[in-house]
Amino acid sequence: MAAAGSAVGLGNVWGFPTQAASNGGAVFLFVYLAMVFVLALPMLISELTIGRYGQGNPVRALNKIVSNRSAAVIMGVMALTAAALILSFYSIIAGWLMGFFASPALDMVGLTGASTWLESFGLGRNLFLTLLFMLLTMHVVRKGVTDGIERWSSRLMPVLIVLFILLIIYIFTQEGALEGLKLYLVPDFSYFNADLVVNAMGQAFFSLSLGVAVMMVYGSYLPKDANIPKTATQVALIDTAIAFGAGLLILPAMFVARNNGVEIYSDAGTLLNSDTLVFTVLPAMFDTMGAVGPLISMVFFALMIIAALTSSISLLEVPVSCAIEELKISRNKAVLTIGIAVSLIAILIIFNFGALFGLVVNVATVYMQPLLGLLWAIVTGWLWSRATVLEEIRNGFDDVEQTLFWRIWPNYLRFVCPVLMGLVFAATI
Ligand code: TRP
Repeated sequence: MAAAGSAVGLGNVWGFPTQAASNGGAVFLFVYLAMVFVLALPMLISELTIGRYGQGNPVRALNKIVSNRSAAVIMGVMALTAAALILSFYSIIAGWLMGFFASPALDMVGLTGASTWLESFGLGRNLFLTLLFMLLTMHVVRKGVTDGIERWSSRLMPVLIVLFILLIIYIFTQEGALEGLKLYLVPDFSYFNADLVVNAMGQAFFSLSLGVAVMMVYGSYLPKDANIPKTATQVALIDTAIAFGAGLLILPAMFVARNNGVEIYSDAGTLLNSDTLVFTVLPAMFDTMGAVGPLISMVFFALMIIAALTSSISLLEVPVSCAIEELKISRNKAVLTIGIAVSLIAILIIFNFGALFGLVVNVATVYMQPLLGLLWAIVTGWLWSRATVLEEIRNGFDDVEQTLFWRIWPNYLRFVCPVLMGLVFAATI
């Protein structure tokens, strides 16, 4: 559940629909599904296995496998840098969610000025909300109350799913929704190109929280009787179902919004300001709901903030756990220094939003995450003795040696994953 909580977040509700909408809908959906199950899932199994074998922070786990401390430190630091970069832009988007959560309440008490400020793109608002979200994340990680958060999120996840289903039903009663559904499910292959494939790969790695050692840390928390391939498959299925559901809501909602006068495409036919589009479309949908609209909107955004928080704490927990164990500093100090460093990166992005936001998202998710994921696949496939891998996976999966999975997976990590990824990158170059 914790790994699923890390996986399900803004990547599902903001990232996936945004990417699908700007990459031709159905074609993106299909390539994405292929990426999740053909490339990302085998790598998720590898990351979880490394983590559970290591029984500690990623640097220690990697050191145990490669028996070379400098190599383990270098690999760990690369993963932590990626985690910090991701957290910095993640907190900006999560901040927007907090703005949309508070704004209907402010409207109701007559503070329309503040409400509009929270909903409109601007420097002050972005700074304020981002830092607020970072403080919230730091607070949770400092208290080490992840237990409570996980318990809450496993309770609230079903609520989120039910709300999604109700909203999907609602949106299909509205004019224009079918046009969005058609875009989402009927492929138009003229959209297919190399960039789309790379973006789908990045999105799959982002959504499953791969590459940056989050899943290693969560793997180290897994009990020895947990079946890792099965757990990983469950996480991938939950995550994919929620991303699919978000697309089923948001793409139709875009066209309903357009029917109600919200501009979603520019004259050139490209999506308008696609980073923030999801956040324009959702309030437009809640506006059509009459008196219950503000209430449903608040419930929706509250659930989203919690989903974002279970992801952001996983991102902060990785560097913090390394710092505590490897540098022997206190949790408080680790959270404070790393939290401030990440906030500074976020502030830098906010001041140069046009130039940096998309760039950081791209560098971290399209390049760093897949390449780091590949590194773990290579560590597992080439540097780790096959017998030890087998021994680790056998915990919780007694007869794994006799399965088709075991006959394919180790060589799959060795040969197929690097070749597939190489092809994807070669195509864009
Ligand atoms: N997967 C989360 C989402 O979809 C975000 C996230 C949490 C993440 N931890 C991560 C992304 C580690 C990349 C790496 O919103």
